[in-house]
Amino acid sequence: MKMKDTIVLITGANSGIGKAAALRFAAEGYQVIMACRNMELGLASHREITEASNNPNVELMELDVASFDSIRTFCSNVKASYPRLDILIHNAAYINHGEKEYKLSPEHIELSFATNAFGPLYMTQLLADHLEQSQDPRILNACTTNIKNFFDPKRTIDFDNLRGEFRETRRYSAYKMYGDSKMALLILTFKMAEQLQSRGIKVNALQINRVKLSKATMNKLSPVWRVLAWAQNLTNPLPAGMADNYFHICTSDEFSGVTGQLINHKREIVQPSASEQGLAQLKNIFGSGSYPKYAIDSKNANRIWELGMELMRS
Ligand SMILES: NC(=O)c1ccc[n+]([C@@H]2O[C@H](COP(=O)([O-])OP(=O)(O)OC[C@H]3O[C@@H](n4cnc5c(N)ncnc54)[C@H](OP(=O)(O)O)[C@@H]3O)[C@@H](O)[C@H]2O)c1
Repeated sequence: MKMKDTIVLITGANSGIGKAAALRFAAEGYQVIMACRNMELGLASHREITEASNNPNVELMELDVASFDSIRTFCSNVKASYPRLDILIHNAAYINHGEKEYKLSPEHIELSFATNAFGPLYMTQLLADHLEQSQDPRILNACTTNIKNFFDPKRTIDFDNLRGEFRETRRYSAYKMYGDSKMALLILTFKMAEQLQSRGIKVNALQINRVKLSKATMNKLSPVWRVLAWAQNLTNPLPAGMADNYFHICTSDEFSGVTGQLINHKREIVQPSASEQGLAQLKNIFGSGSYPKYAIDSKNANRIWELGMELMRS
């Protein structure tokens, strides 16, 4: 196999889309860093990928994206082992469908926000100088169609509860927290793209619609959710298709100059909605061409950015 010297880092590469993407890059001869929390599952996936791709340049490294300490150790290991980073894919995510209790990260950040928004932000900050060494550095954030819930004008991120401040009085909804944290990730995508533009680093997000859940993920679900997920899995496409999107967005000439964009599963640039009323709103909800204006409201952007900066300083 012809080895490419392009180095790609994928978080949550032991299952689902992350694993399929690791295999895709490995099969194409890239140097792949699989950043995984569960080293047992990680080792099994790593073995499968190296064998299937016949690529010896795939490395498994330990990372808990929800822990700032783990991120610091991981990033310094990456910097010590690799001369630069070309592609960074923030794929790992937390959602526990049946969860009713607030769960906090070691830094006391609500776990969906720690994993899906502030962890990726912190990693990006720590790896930015390494990405800057690349000829064509690209970051891709895994977003979701769940953010369409923000077409509802009443929907907001509960900024006052991101550290579980109201855990005694406000009901925990895993689904809302997940959607809020992915909206935060989208807002941070736009902010990061702006901040990193002068350093040549491109930052985009992919709006993932639906993909078959892996067996490992199904096993984590409560029995009721497992049945629902099983039924959805009958028609959901395999992760390999979405992994192709990761690959294309991060390597193709088509996307080499694109930054600060949300891209949908058909590889089209998604636009902020022009109107969120009447027929336009129906198109927003049922189509995949627009995202809620909430994501480009500067008040929301400044709030999430400042909170991220404050958390990283503390
Ligand atoms: N599948 C879909 O239909 C769909 C739809 C919309 C968006 N997405 C997004 O697509 C991405 C991949 O989803 P998927 O369906 O492939 O999910 P998945 O199979 O459940 O994989 C998620 C991965 O994230 C890892 N992870 C979770 N918390 C972590 C942490 N704190 N540190 C490190 N790794 C962590 C998991 O590792 P463990 O094994 O250690 O838990 C797992 O490897 C996610 O960002 C998800 O939000 C998926």
